[in-house]
Amino acid sequence: MNPDNDAGQGQSGVSRQGFLGVGAVAAADVAPLVAAVADAAPTVAAENDGLVAVRVTVNGDRHAVRVDPRATLLDTLHEKLELTGTKKGCDRGQCGVCTVHVDGRRMLSCLTPAATTNGREITTIDGLADGEQLPPMQQAFIDHDGFQYGFCTPGQIMSAVAMVDEGPASTDDGIRERMSGNICRCSAYPFIGDAIRDGQEAMR
Ligand code: FES
Repeated sequence: MNPDNDAGQGQSGVSRQGFLGVGAVAAADVAPLVAAVADAAPTVAAENDGLVAVRVTVNGDRHAVRVDPRATLLDTLHEKLELTGTKKGCDRGQCGVCTVHVDGRRMLSCLTPAATTNGREITTIDGLADGEQLPPMQQAFIDHDGFQYGFCTPGQIMSAVAMVDEGPASTDDGIRERMSGNICRCSAYPFIGDAIRDGQEAMR
């Protein structure tokens, strides 16, 4: 597989670019994503009060939470675990702001039911650094001023780290294509691209 043609596939196996409808694909690609989420059926049953018990490891810490089966991972991170580094943008899978890693792969937490993450390992932007030591990609965003008001930055960094782990992009176009699911409303794309290119080099 040419990583540059991967267009940032998530755990669902569907192209993030395709999911956005870029390149004249939309409904056909949305359906597999929804199906993939549904396939990841919760391994926990609802209790009498309608809530489900979910055990997850987030940023290395184990948590046991009880959630509404309809609760998203994003809202659960915010409201149950008080981890607010992951941001909510569109809340409908279109901007990438809410990207986290689930078992090492990038996922849109606004589309992921928390109940499907039972037993999974989750990493959020809050847990990417090792204490005061920033990982290379995070440092590269600072070095290149890869943001303006920074709301998209957590998702950009989480997606970029996962992109490199999937297989480094060999060209700037490859970076742009595989990061196409992460939208920056400030259009700071040139600096974001520079940051990812250098962050990728530092991660190698
Ligand atoms: S908030 Fe999840 S994709 Fe926009």
